[in-house]
Amino acid sequence: AAIGSSGAKARDGWSSRSAFILAAVGSAVGLGNMWRFPAEAGANGGGAFVLFYILCVALIGLPILLSETLIGRHGQSSAPESVRRIAKESGKSSHWDTLASFGVLGAFLVLSFYCVVGGWVLYYIGVFAQDLFSTGVTGGAFEGRPAGDIEALLPSLFGNGGLMVGLHIAFIAITFYFVSRGVSSGIEWVATWLMPAFFVLFLLITIYGAFTGAFSEALSYLFTFDASKLTGAVMLAAVGQAFFSLSLGVAGMMTYGAYVGRDVNLAGTSGIIAGADTAVALLAGLCIFPIVFAAGLEPNGGPGLMFQSLPIGFQSMPFGSVVGLLFFVMVFFAALTSSVSLMEAPTAWLKDKAKVTRPMATLIVTVAALLLGILAALSFNDLSDFQPFGFIPLFEGQGMFDVLDTVTSKVLMPIGAIMTALFVGWVAERRLIDSENGLSGGLEKVWLFLVRWLCPLALITILIVGIFPSIL
Ligand code: PHE
Repeated sequence: AAIGSSGAKARDGWSSRSAFILAAVGSAVGLGNMWRFPAEAGANGGGAFVLFYILCVALIGLPILLSETLIGRHGQSSAPESVRRIAKESGKSSHWDTLASFGVLGAFLVLSFYCVVGGWVLYYIGVFAQDLFSTGVTGGAFEGRPAGDIEALLPSLFGNGGLMVGLHIAFIAITFYFVSRGVSSGIEWVATWLMPAFFVLFLLITIYGAFTGAFSEALSYLFTFDASKLTGAVMLAAVGQAFFSLSLGVAGMMTYGAYVGRDVNLAGTSGIIAGADTAVALLAGLCIFPIVFAAGLEPNGGPGLMFQSLPIGFQSMPFGSVVGLLFFVMVFFAALTSSVSLMEAPTAWLKDKAKVTRPMATLIVTVAALLLGILAALSFNDLSDFQPFGFIPLFEGQGMFDVLDTVTSKVLMPIGAIMTALFVGWVAERRLIDSENGLSGGLEKVWLFLVRWLCPLALITILIVGIFPSIL
C-alpha cells in the first residue's frame, strides 16, 4: 500500500487519494469543530467572530493548508526533515527546519490537552449508555430529571480529578493503539471507517435539530456582523480557531502530506478539506446554539457548551437517549481521527530523529503527552490554583489546561503559519513549489500573493493587536 515514494525503499503511505482526503478531513474535523468552535464563538460574542473566522479560513487557512501539504509531499519525510530537504534543494540554510520543529512541539502540546477533552466524550458516552439502559429506547434522555441535574454532570466530572485522569489515559491509549500500527493499517483504517460514519450521524442530528429549538435566534446570533465587537482579542481568537480547526501551524498537515501520492492535486484536496471542516463547524454551531437559546442558557458558556447544552436538548427529543448516545459516539470518532494526527507528527519526527521503531516512538510520545495531560486534567480540580504562567497577561488566571490551549492556538500556530508562508513564498525555489501546488494561471498568482504578502502581514498584525491590545 505504499505510494509516493521517491526513494527505492517503499514507504508506508495512504493507499489512495480518497484515503488521504478522509484522513486529512479526519484530522481537521474534530473537537475543534464540535466543542471548541461553539465555545469560542460564544466567548467572543458570536457574529463578528464567526464572520472573521470564515474570512481567515478562506484567505489565510486555505493557502497555508496548501503550503503545508506541499512541503510534506515534496520533502517525503517527517515535517522538519521535509523542510530541511526543500531548503537544501533551494540552496538555502537548513536551519529553516526549526520552523517545523516548533510545529512538532505544538502538536505534542495540543495532543496533551486534546486527550483530556476526549476523555470527557468517553464519559458522556458512558452516561448516555447508562441512561438508555434505564429509560428505554423511545423516551427522551434523562426522563423526569430537571435540566439543572443534566447541566451539573459536567461540573461533577470536573470535580473528580481521579476520574478525569483515568478517562484521559483511556483516550490517549486508544490513540496510541492506532498510531503505533502505522499509516496505512492504523491511521487510515480509523479515517476510512469512522469519518463516513461521522458524517451520516452528524447530518441526521443536524436536520433533526433544525426543526426543534430556537433556530432563528441562533442564526442571527451567529451571523449578525457587529463591527464594534471585532477587537484585537476577538481577531486573534478567530485566527487561532481557524488554525486549530484546520490542523495548521503544528506540522500535522506537513506530516500527512508526506504520505500523499504524486497523482493527487493538492490544491483541489486542500479546498475539499477546508470546505468540509468549515461546514461542520458552522453546522455544529447551528446544532448547539438553538438548544442553548431554547433552554435559556448563556451562549458564553465556555468549555461546557457542547457538553451541557446538547444533553439538555436531547431530553426533549423523542428517542433522545439513543440520539444522544449516537451523538457522543460520533464526536468520539471525530476526536480520534484528529488525535491520531496530533500524535503522528511528533511520532514521525522521533522515529526519524532517534532512529527508533514506530511502536517505540509512539510509546515515548504517548507517555510524555499523558503526563502533561494529567496536569491539564487536574487544573479543573486539585491543581486549579497552579497557574505558573499567570504573570504573563495572555495567561492571566489560567490553569494548565487553558495555558496549553492558549499558547498553541494563539501563539505557536500563528507563528508556525507565518514561518510556513515565508518559507514557501520567499525561501523555497519557485520551481519546486510550482511543480507541487496543482494550481495554474490566475489562481496560482492569487495563492502566491496570499502566501507572500497577505498571510505574513495579516498574521503579524493580528498577533500584535491580539496580544498587546493596549497598542490600539
Ligand atoms: N483540527 C483538529 C480539530 O479541530 C485538532 C488538531 C489540531 C488536529 C492540530 C491536528 C493538529 O479537532
